[in-house]
Amino acid sequence: EDRAQVRASLLSWYDGCHRQLPWRRNLHSKLEGTRGEAASADLDPQAFAYMVWVSEVMLQQTQVVNVVKYFKRWMEKWPTLEALAAASLEEVNELWAGLGYYRRAAFLLKGAKHLVDELGGAFPETANELKRIPGIGPYTSAAVASIAFGECAAAVDGNVIRVVSRLRALSGDPKKLTATHAVLAGELLDKQRPGDFNQAMMELGATICKPTNPLCDSCPVSAQCSALARVRSHLAGGGRPD
Ligand code: ADE
Repeated sequence: EDRAQVRASLLSWYDGCHRQLPWRRNLHSKLEGTRGEAASADLDPQAFAYMVWVSEVMLQQTQVVNVVKYFKRWMEKWPTLEALAAASLEEVNELWAGLGYYRRAAFLLKGAKHLVDELGGAFPETANELKRIPGIGPYTSAAVASIAFGECAAAVDGNVIRVVSRLRALSGDPKKLTATHAVLAGELLDKQRPGDFNQAMMELGATICKPTNPLCDSCPVSAQCSALARVRSHLAGGGRPD
């Protein structure tokens, strides 16, 4: 089945060559031979959720290479949710300087205060509950719920929209999220490893399925890609699809 093939190929690609990043504490570098859920069990899920949240907010408008330094500094200064909740807006803005889109720093601070003051200092474990926290939207809530808590929620960012659009040869603006993208991403999601699957989709979009000049020859799911199949049938002079 096509979707099963996409899941298997994407996850084995991700397992083999994902980037080692400071907020990816749950991967097999920690526990040899175990994957995702099992490996993250030895890290407190709440502490992990805090790291995932901060990293995902930083990554929303900023490339991975630029985020790493800021993420490390942030975690040194505010290693816990409680520490962040006690910070001032001036402090978070100061650390954020250079990352751009300063509203994101204010959102993190506001969210931390809400979590500590209203929710007992613990992240709720579902995307639906996370979405009710000020500053946490549909993307971030799904990313945190799937990566930190293993919930089957598709995190759909710009990269994922583009990957889904190409896999399924959707027409329309590849930058705009539609209900179709959300449904297709949800159907594709690997139910055993939703957090790894979401990150694999993002990583594929960032490194292989790039906006221009995608590296289709290196793509683990090129055999399932409808957009690529169309291009190839045109090049082969095989006439028009549809
Ligand atoms: N972009 C946004 N979130 C990401 C993640 N967790 N891994 C790689 N790229 C991302």
